Amino acid sequence: MIKGCIFDLDGVIVDTAKYHYLAWKELADDLGFEFTEKDNERLKGVSRMRSLDILLEVGNKTFDEASKLKFAENKNKRYLDYILNMTPDEILPGVLDFLDDLRSKNIKIALGSASKNAMTILNQLKLKNYFDVVIDGTKVSKAKPDPEVFLKGAEALHLKPEECIVFEDAEAGVEAAIKGGFKCIGIGSPENLGNANYVMKGFENISFDELIYKIEH
Ligand code: BG6
Ligand code: MG
Repeated sequence: MIKGCIFDLDGVIVDTAKYHYLAWKELADDLGFEFTEKDNERLKGVSRMRSLDILLEVGNKTFDEASKLKFAENKNKRYLDYILNMTPDEILPGVLDFLDDLRSKNIKIALGSASKNAMTILNQLKLKNYFDVVIDGTKVSKAKPDPEVFLKGAEALHLKPEECIVFEDAEAGVEAAIKGGFKCIGIGSPENLGNANYVMKGFENISFDELIYKIEH
């Protein structure tokens, strides 16, 4: 029986990918190479330092660790400028109704995100109070597709993985959820999230009960 839901943040609750893109692109501009929205797809669900490695691979550049840390810090400052201007209007369609539906049914709610900025984003969106538990990039040592972030979420909710549904938009996140023994709903397209138990575009017009029916049939 499902007793808890664990949500990824970026791409599930809010579209922060566009801000990550703008901040990374500004860094690429400084370093003198082009970084496209298509390249940015590769960064979804990926940790900050791994994202930087992918960006530098695109630009065919190599730097020592100290310079890379400075670049990542610099990117994060730019990213923060964007997210500190975010408002609750940016919560993706249907998410608030879905969270309210979960609450009315006493389903526990956790966040399972790779981002070290997750608390800042939840604050901006005024969503903090919905979450019984927040596991973010400051609390995990292994990146998705390792299931650590979701296992810690389930443990903090005092639930077993098989009692939780994970919502994920990134391939690595779906893999992490399945590896951890969770049911997984992919948010996006079945082309890349095919391993999830069910894939949907977003949370509009779907209730918790309908979702349970879909993953069981
Ligand atoms: C994930 C995003 O949620 O968080 C990635 O999908 C991002 O694109 C990662 O790189 C780390 O985020 P942050 O906010 O700690 O730089
Ligand atoms: Mg995501």
